[in-house]
Amino acid sequence: MQNILGIETSCDETGVALYSADRGLVGDLVYTQADHAAYGGVVPELASRDHVRKLPGMVRELLDRTGTSAEALDAVAYTAGPGLAGALLVGAATGVALAAALDVPAIAVHHMEGHLLSPLLEDPAPAFPFVALLVSGGHTMLVAVEGFARYRLLGETLDDAAGEAFDKTARLLGLGYPGGPEVARLAENGDPDRFEFPRPMTNRPGLDFSFSGLKTHTRELVTRVAPEDYADAAAGFEQAVAETLAIKCKRALKETRMQRLVVAGGVSANTRLRTELERRIPGRVYYPSLKLCTDNGAMIAHAGWYRRAEANRDGVIAVRPRWAIDSLSQ
Ligand code: KG4
Ligand code: ZN
Repeated sequence: MQNILGIETSCDETGVALYSADRGLVGDLVYTQADHAAYGGVVPELASRDHVRKLPGMVRELLDRTGTSAEALDAVAYTAGPGLAGALLVGAATGVALAAALDVPAIAVHHMEGHLLSPLLEDPAPAFPFVALLVSGGHTMLVAVEGFARYRLLGETLDDAAGEAFDKTARLLGLGYPGGPEVARLAENGDPDRFEFPRPMTNRPGLDFSFSGLKTHTRELVTRVAPEDYADAAAGFEQAVAETLAIKCKRALKETRMQRLVVAGGVSANTRLRTELERRIPGRVYYPSLKLCTDNGAMIAHAGWYRRAEANRDGVIAVRPRWAIDSLSQ
C-alpha cells in the first residue's frame, strides 16, 4: 500500500490529504466552515451540509494540485468517529463509495488516534513510548502510549474539554468562534496575575481534569469587571488552563516513568501552554506543526497508513460518534 487519501469531517473542518508511504505527506487541504461563528458554536446540521457541498470538490482539487491520478490511490481512510454523527456520515459515505468506485479498500480511522499520531509526521518524530496529552474541542485526555495501538487512558476530563472551555470563555468575553485563538489574542496584552483563577484538581492525586468550574469562575469574574479588564481575565484564564495541563503532564510522566511528552489537538497550538510545558517538563515535548494541530485530513491519511492492516472492502458505511480510544489497543 503506497498512496492513501485521508478524509476528515468529524466536526466543522473539511479536510482531505494524500499520504504516501515513501514520500510522506504529499498534499493537504483544509476548509474551515465559517457559518458557525454567528451561532457561537458548531451547528451539526449546518456542518453536515457544508461537508456535502465541499468534500467532492476538495478531493478533486487535492488530486489536481498534487498531480495524482485517482487510479494511483491505494486506499481511502476516513474519520469514522468520534464526532458529530451526521458530519461523520458524510466523510464515511464519501470515503467508502470512492474506495468502491476505485476498487481499493477503505480504512476507518479514530479521530483522536489521528491527533495522537500526528507528531510522528514531524522531524524529529518522537520514539515510543510516550505520554500523549490530547487537547481538542471535544476531548482532554492523557494517554500512555507504549507503541502503535498500545494505549492506556491515564486520565480525562470529567466535564468540559480544554478547547470547549476556551470556546465558552470566548463567548463570555464577547469574542468569536473558535474561541481558543481569540482568547489567546486578547490575552496577549493582559496580565495573567491580576485576577486569581483556580488550577482545578491539581492539589489532589490523579490525572483527571475538570474545566467547568474554571468557566463558572470566569463567568462570575466577567459580571464584576469592566470590558477594559477582559484582557487580564483572558490572560488569567489561559494561564490557569496552561498550568493545569502542564502540572498533570508532569505527573503523568512521573507515574509512567516515561521520558517523552507528545501534545496534540487544537489546543496544542496555544503558545502559553507550550511555554508552560517547556518550563515544567524536563524531557522533550513533541507537537504537530501548527497547521496540523487543529483538525485536518493529513492526520487521518497518516493514521490510515498505520491502520492499513484493517483496510477492507465490506462496503459498510458506519460511524461511531462515541468511541473510546483505549478500545483501540491490540
Ligand atoms: O482538534 P480540534 O481542531 O477539533 C476537535 O477535535 O475538537 O480542536 C478545536 C479546539 C477548539 O475548541 C479551539 O478553540 C481550540 O481547539 N484551539 C485553541 C487554539 N487553537 C484552537 N485553543 C487555545 N489556543 C489556540 N491557539
Ligand atoms: Zn480534532
